[in-house]
Parts: sequence; structure tokens; C-alpha cells
Amino acid sequence: SSIPVLVTGGAGYIGSHAVLALRDAGWPVSVIDDLSTGSRYLLPDDVPFYEGNVADRALVERIFAEQDIGAIMHFAGSIVVPESVEKPLDYYRNNTVASHSLISTAVDAGICHVVFSSTAAVYGEPERVPVDEAVAKLPINPYGASKLMTERMLEDSAAAYPLNFAALRYFNVSGADPAGRSGQVGKGSTHLIKVAVEAAVGKRDHVDVFGTDYQTPDGSCVRDYIHVSDLVDAHLKALERLIERPEENLVLNLGYGRGLSVLEVLDALDKVLGQPIRREMKGRRAGDPPLLISSNKALLETLDWNARYADIETILTHALDWERKLQSRNWA
Ligand code: UFG
Repeated sequence: SSIPVLVTGGAGYIGSHAVLALRDAGWPVSVIDDLSTGSRYLLPDDVPFYEGNVADRALVERIFAEQDIGAIMHFAGSIVVPESVEKPLDYYRNNTVASHSLISTAVDAGICHVVFSSTAAVYGEPERVPVDEAVAKLPINPYGASKLMTERMLEDSAAAYPLNFAALRYFNVSGADPAGRSGQVGKGSTHLIKVAVEAAVGKRDHVDVFGTDYQTPDGSCVRDYIHVSDLVDAHLKALERLIERPEENLVLNLGYGRGLSVLEVLDALDKVLGQPIRREMKGRRAGDPPLLISSNKALLETLDWNARYADIETILTHALDWERKLQSRNWA
């Protein structure tokens, strides 16, 4: 069962890995991306590429027809939490309003399956950890709220139209393609692992540790870092399941069910490098929950998926290899 798939945001970090994985698995794949944050060079040259926004109905209709699209993986959107607090309406436009346009164009074209890029931010400060899918969804920023609204639109649309969907709620996505074809291109990224590998290649002279007095084993925040290739593999398995069971939808957290502290991540990087990266202990960053770990029970029970790259040294090695490649090609 391999039907033509449209990947929105396919020139971005996670979207480009999805394109590679779909292509490796033999699925026909096309991309729409407005290149607002994406980069054309993350994609193979022979992938049909449409530059534009998913809210451009005429363009999306043309792609559906030209490529005979049967399913969508929807990654396009804005993802920076503090920015969403400063510019909430941009987030509701890019994440919610644009998704409304895409979903409605898809429904009109008779497209049946949507895999949606959601986030652990829909839970806000979760009432229990590990976080399972039944935890109350109480987002604490416009980013999480804008994604949750799209989940809700998909849910209601699936009940009313011949469409099913998977909402995949990501924990901390990290790492890079093991074959070195793609990775994170952060201009001013704030993600811990990206920042740390930038320091490792000399783009920064140290890493800040935001908070060392949390109620966690070593006082720094704990997160569930998931390798982007494992994350994307779950998207392919989810799509297969949507096709096999058109009456069912999926809502799944994507994480490994294990947590690593900021200091543990930095220790692992020192080990990979064979030398220490300079750290500066700083105060807490606003809005950081101390502990965020996914339950992976539903993921393991629902999909024929298993973790291949959960080892933090593997994640760091792939991220570091990619950072060196970026540097050697003067890409970013
Ligand atoms: N951190 C540092 N130093 C840095 C960068 C980060 O100590 O230079 C710490 C943060 O304070 C936090 C942890 O490392 O404790 C992870 O921070 P990230 O910025 O890498 O990721 P977040 O957990 O803040 O954010 C992630 C996703 C968001 C999503 C959020 C859900 O990137 O998209 O989880 O809570 F919304």
C-alpha cells in the first residue's frame, strides 16, 4: 500500500527526514514548502517541489491533481514557543488557519488520510509523568493551543467526512539522518542538542544550563529526546495503519519513555567528543517544566515500531556529524 504522499513543510528539519524515509520505502512523494524556514538543499533534487503556502488553495488543488495525492503528512507550521507568546496571531494563522485551508481543500478533493505533526506542548504542564495520551490537554502558550485546535479540527472532520487522521505529539526531537542527508538548520536555534553541537564545532563558546535547582535527580531539567529518524519512522507506520483501518484515527505521543537531564546530555557530548564543552550554570528559563517524559505504551501497542537510535550518544553523534557538514559547506 504505497499511495502518493504530499509532505507539507518538507524542506524543514522533520519534514525533510519524512521525505527521505518515504522515498527510501518506495512511496511516491511530493513537497510543498514556502521556504520561510526550510531549505531546498535538505531535499533530493528529484522530489517534485512546490514553493508556496498550504493556505494557497489553488496551488494545493493543482498539486493534488498533478501528483494524484492520496495522503498528506502535514509538518508546515511555526514552532518557537516564546515567539508564539509575542506573536500569537501569527501562530494561529500559520498553524491553525492554514491547516483549516489545507484540510478543507483535502476534504473537497477526496483525500482520505492525514498525518499531523502535533506536540507535547498540547499538555502544557502535564498533571502526571510519564505523559500518556489521556492526560488533560491544557496548553500554556499559543504554540500548543494553535496545534491543539488543528487536532480538534481533524477529529471533527474525521467524524463528518471520509477522512482519518493521526495526531502525533512530539517530545524533544533531535539528531539527524544517520546517512548525513539532512539535519537541523538552526539560525539562532534554542534547542539544547542543536546548541550543544554548535558549541562542539566552535560556533559558540559555551552552553548555558538553564536551571540547576529543579526537583530532579541532578537539579537540571529532564526531557525525552527522540531521534528524528525514529520519529519519522512512526509517521510511516501510522500512515500504513490509517490506510489499513480507514475507520480509525490515531493519537499518539512520540517519545522513548525515558528521560535525560540537561547535564546528562552535556556529559554524553563530552564523552563523544573526548573533551569537555564549556558550561555556564544559569537561572531557570521561563516556562520550562522540570520533567517531561512520554509514555510510549500506546505507541508500542499500536504501531509495529521500535526504537533504533534511542542511545543519546548515537543521537549526539548524528547531530554532530550534520553540524560538521553544515560548517564544511558554509550552509549555516
Ligand atoms: N536548555 C539549556 N540550555 C540551552 C537550551 C536548552 O539548558 O541552551 C534546557 C532547557 O531549559 C530545557 C531543556 O534544555 O530544560 C530542553 O530545551 P529545548 O529548548 O531543547 O526544548 P523544550 O523542552 O523547551 O521544547 C520542546 C520543543 C517544543 C515543545 C516543547 C514542549 O522544542 O517545540 O518541547 O514542552 F513545545
